[in-house]
Amino acid sequence: KNIQPTVFVIFGGTGDLNARKLAPALYHLFMDGWLPEQFAIIGTGRTVLTDEAFRDRLLEGINQFSRSGKANADTWKAFSGHVVYQAADVQDAAAYEPFARRIQAYAKEWGTQPNVIYYLAVSPDFFPVIAQNISKSKLSADPERTRIVIEKPFGHDLESAKELNQLLGHIFTEQQIYRIDHYLGKETVQNIMAFRFANALFEPLWNRNYIDHVQISVTEQLGVGDRGGYYNGAGALRDMIQNHLLQLLCLVAMEPPVNFNADEIRNRKVDVLRAMRRFTPETVRESAVRGQYGAGWMEGKKVPGYREEVESKPPSNTETFAAVKFFVDNWRWQNVPFYLRTGKRMHRSASSITVQFKDVPHCVFPTETAESWQQNRLIISIQPEMSIRLQVQAKRPGLDMMLNTVDMVFDYKGTYSNEAPEAYETLLLDTMLGDQTLFMRGDQVEAAWDLIMPILNSWEGRASQSFPNYSADSWGPEVAEALIARDGYHWFTLPLNGKK
Ligand code: BG6
Repeated sequence: KNIQPTVFVIFGGTGDLNARKLAPALYHLFMDGWLPEQFAIIGTGRTVLTDEAFRDRLLEGINQFSRSGKANADTWKAFSGHVVYQAADVQDAAAYEPFARRIQAYAKEWGTQPNVIYYLAVSPDFFPVIAQNISKSKLSADPERTRIVIEKPFGHDLESAKELNQLLGHIFTEQQIYRIDHYLGKETVQNIMAFRFANALFEPLWNRNYIDHVQISVTEQLGVGDRGGYYNGAGALRDMIQNHLLQLLCLVAMEPPVNFNADEIRNRKVDVLRAMRRFTPETVRESAVRGQYGAGWMEGKKVPGYREEVESKPPSNTETFAAVKFFVDNWRWQNVPFYLRTGKRMHRSASSITVQFKDVPHCVFPTETAESWQQNRLIISIQPEMSIRLQVQAKRPGLDMMLNTVDMVFDYKGTYSNEAPEAYETLLLDTMLGDQTLFMRGDQVEAAWDLIMPILNSWEGRASQSFPNYSADSWGPEVAEALIARDGYHWFTLPLNGKK
């Protein structure tokens, strides 16, 4: 692919995201030949560091977090030659002058003006001031060559998201703004569209006539760890449902796009969010439940409860688990429930989408065999297992007519020998290519906030909860089981290693 000479300016260069995700991703892009010959990474942060000390930090991050393990000495040497560090107080417009100087020096050295990508891997409090200072110091003067990447969280609620969109809109065009939702960069998530729209088989069944309900579940074993400062003001609904899980829902529910253009696809996804049934205070009570983890044991280790972990006084009412039942009010999905759940410190880390089909209209088999039946299910496993599994009924070998459920499986590991890239590799490459398909457009973010605001308002208005209400290493609070059991279903979990 033809990638223009590029300078990355990484705000939050000394931070966790750079060490864990961005540096390993850029290193892999370099290793796999995706970076142009003329590229540079300028890391920035408040700490004063030499280039060498900054490179050492990145190397540490790569060695620890890269999907291919420790860096190769020669590759690292070649890669790190493109990396420099510039300390700056991002709140001070004058501190941006050295960026301009460095970018001009690259332009001179390379004999061409590079594209410049400003990556804001910083706390959201700094998004506005950095955008403004980029503008003040004329670093955004060329809209064709300048892009800005905004990490999550994009806003704390609908109002703050709108404000941020407005502020960015005064400085950048929408084509310059790349709002990250890293779930969209995951290989298995990108495959949802391929699976739906490159196969004739499923689309005719992909509607209310054949689909009974859909479950989207993202459970994590990790607790909040040292991210309490951010998380305690956010909670599971903001942290996961507003963005990652609703984006998965959009990919499942969207209409077929006319082509693969970024805006065509994002239009179809926004259509879903707009069609989603609005909540009222009454329906919030029936449709949304929350939980907070208590202490317990995970894999032989004693772990603290959320409240101890974040040391909040008075005791925190932030939810670490949320489950919500949504509806999409359009012709395709009328009255098909979409159950979404996510939580921390749960029994297993697994992200999956389960599409449950309706029963056969008439059963021709003897009732004793029919009792062991299940409805057909399509299970898209996003991580850690990467597979698509179709559960069908089949005759068990033997002299009697006994049926059981078997799996037809497409498993990434068994099918492909190459390792899947990390989401951030895909997303960083796309920022260089100028492809916004996998990034959130301003109206998408606002539509998602708009949808969940009644839940947030209702929960914040009813702060007193009997938290904690689930223990570490469980499947979440009882209210979440009740939410789905009321409709006659249960949360589906894939048996470990896929065996029944
Ligand atoms: C982040 C959330 O966006 O996604 C975290 O802020 C969460 O709380 C993480 O742990 C999960 O991402 P992944 O890629 O590990 O599933």
